[in-house]
Amino acid sequence: MKILSVFGTRPEAIKMAPVVARLRETPGVTSRVCVTGQHRQMLDSVLSTFGIVPDHDLAVMRPDQGLSDLFARVMTGVDALLAEWRPDYVLVQGDTATSTAAGLAAFFRKVAIGHVEAGLRTGDIASPWPEEANRRLTAVVADRHYAPTARARAALLAEGTAPDSILVTGNTGIDALLRTAEAVTAPGPALAAREARFGWLDPQVRTVLVTGHRRESFGAGFGRICDAVAALAERPGVQVVYPVHLNPNVRGPVFARLGGLPGVRLIEPLDYPDFVYMMTRADLILTDSGGVQEEAPVLRKPVLVMRDTSERAEAIEAGVARLVGTDTAAIVAAAVRLLEDAAAYRAMATGASPFGDGHASARIVADLLAQGGGPLPLRRSIKTRDFVPAIRPVAAAGLSA
Ligand code: UD1
Ligand code: UDP
Repeated sequence: MKILSVFGTRPEAIKMAPVVARLRETPGVTSRVCVTGQHRQMLDSVLSTFGIVPDHDLAVMRPDQGLSDLFARVMTGVDALLAEWRPDYVLVQGDTATSTAAGLAAFFRKVAIGHVEAGLRTGDIASPWPEEANRRLTAVVADRHYAPTARARAALLAEGTAPDSILVTGNTGIDALLRTAEAVTAPGPALAAREARFGWLDPQVRTVLVTGHRRESFGAGFGRICDAVAALAERPGVQVVYPVHLNPNVRGPVFARLGGLPGVRLIEPLDYPDFVYMMTRADLILTDSGGVQEEAPVLRKPVLVMRDTSERAEAIEAGVARLVGTDTAAIVAAAVRLLEDAAAYRAMATGASPFGDGHASARIVADLLAQGGGPLPLRRSIKTRDFVPAIRPVAAAGLSA
């Protein structure tokens, strides 16, 4: 079975790394990796962490890239590769431009598609933007839907996705996190070296770790987030650590507003193991990241989500994450409460982890093998038949009325 994994950004690479590792060690599978290079430095850092040497690199990234240009470059590059190496399956992950453009390219070549992390929904096409649209588009063309949770499965079913094309697997990001967290916290020379490297962290004060990059917050939203971070950093006994995303629309306002403030340490994006280590050192995490919302609860770190919506409702319902929006006062109030109220803190730091058990990649690869190779039109016609029972009751009701 020939399987082509396509990814291009930091989070896709982290979440696909365990899948690629599993494919590599599975007999009967010929696995190839195509990176689009939608991210360059942040992708390369993950590739080197996990020892992935891509078979193909489309090198699509441009400074401050536009979404249509990016889509077009990914589709053209992936299409050429599909024409040359006809895989049985293309695997895409999540909701980035890379994943949707690669999914569409596969669909147009009639190559079957496995969608890793399928079924996340906010229900609001404007938030997160453009990711909510991206993931819905991918769901339309995917053949196998790897839903991380039962809620994601329910969202796919509600859209008419064939039940037997969905598998609840857990999130592959938790596979990566559990392995990495174990490695970075194991006592020994590596831990000692890392502690020395981050020796500037003051263990006497509370550490607030911040990340942010969402396109829908560019402009006013980021201004309010920065004001909140500045206000927190002014409080005694608090240090803010903020690895700043490489997007120029993030770096501009963040460095202008927060650069030079005594309580704020602005640093470059961390390599994944260093970031996991930093999460273990944090008392509180403020983020708009999807992946960090899933990871922080595993490490028993309360996470405040600086967005208006979340597709990770599982964490909010479990009480381990809170949606605070981008209002300055609301962010500061929620953070101060957690820093000052030990009971409120304990209630969020329970370790409840709704997103997986660390075996998602194994389930995905087993499922792919069970599909076998073979011509796509057969699989597509089966899927069409599966849709019929979902459609028929509505039509029948209409007719009898
Ligand atoms: C992208 C994804 C978003 C995901 C995020 C993870 C889309 C539309 N957006 O957003 O879903 O949550 O990645 O971080 O797919 N840059 C660099 N070097 C890098 C990475 C980025 O210089 O390693 C700069 C470039 O100027 C690039 C810009 O950041 O043009 C934006 O990158 P892009 O991937 O388009 O958007 P992100 O905001 O990173
Ligand atoms: N991450 C990292 N270094 C950093 C910040 C985040 O390795 O400096 C990791 C983090 O642990 C998570 C992923 O990057 O696994 C999240 O990526 P991002 O927030 O860019 O994207 P999203 O998850 O929002 O799509």
